[in-house]
Amino acid sequence: VTPHESDPLVIRGPRLTLRYATADDTPALFALGSDPAVTRYFSWGPYTSPEQPAAYIASLPSKRESGSLLDFLIIEDGEPIGVTGLSELARRDRRATVGSWFGRAWWGTGANFESKALVAALAFERLGLERLTAWANTRNGRSQRALERIGFRREGVLRAWHRHGETMHDVVVFSLLRAEWERSALREVLTTIEGTAPPQFTVA
Ligand SMILES: CC(C)(COP(=O)(O)OP(=O)(O)OC[C@H]1O[C@@H](n2cnc3c(N)ncnc32)[C@H](O)[C@@H]1OP(=O)(O)O)[C@@H](O)C(=O)NCCC(=O)NCCS
Repeated sequence: VTPHESDPLVIRGPRLTLRYATADDTPALFALGSDPAVTRYFSWGPYTSPEQPAAYIASLPSKRESGSLLDFLIIEDGEPIGVTGLSELARRDRRATVGSWFGRAWWGTGANFESKALVAALAFERLGLERLTAWANTRNGRSQRALERIGFRREGVLRAWHRHGETMHDVVVFSLLRAEWERSALREVLTTIEGTAPPQFTVA
């Protein structure tokens, strides 16, 4: 077992913890992701069988290894409430994309803010990234507002950028740069990062 799997990343804030999902988390993830309101703007879901979240969880170690996806469960009081993580890593350009989703019961609770603070600390402080990108469907007004209030800046619209089945969707592109994060409220969230980062995700 590689160091980054035997000594996994765990990121703790005042209220939330980010950790890797394991097979034991399948029922909880199924419950969260089987709500059509949650997956409405996604290319996947809603889950209709526990085999779907089980397959997602089983795919994660090799994606950490290859540098294609670094996803975490968002834990509150010991229970998973959502998923966040980094994808679309460009090591040369020191950027990655952050994406998140929460069970409906946790929308509007501040969990999104804290989870973004934890991911941003990982990205800028530990991994050495210079930019976080975030996508929101042009029709997903809630996601756009949520990103703006956290301090992400709206950059524009990319047409026909994401495919869901046979339908192409326009997305709004947002970003947060290292210098903006340093001055933002996200930075004030007390964060501890334990464990070894997967080498493919470390640029600095
Ligand atoms: C998107 C998501 C992560 C945001 O987290 P959240 O806790 O719901 O966000 P917040 O409550 O902090 O912020 C939502 C903002 O949108 C506003 N809002 C709510 N519904 C809205 C709508 N239909 N249109 C525009 N704005 C809306 C809220 O008033 C709030 O803005 P305010 O702070 O100015 O009042 C969460 O809703 C979620 O998991 N959604 C399902 C998955 C998803 O779409 N993920 C994002 C993919 S890019």
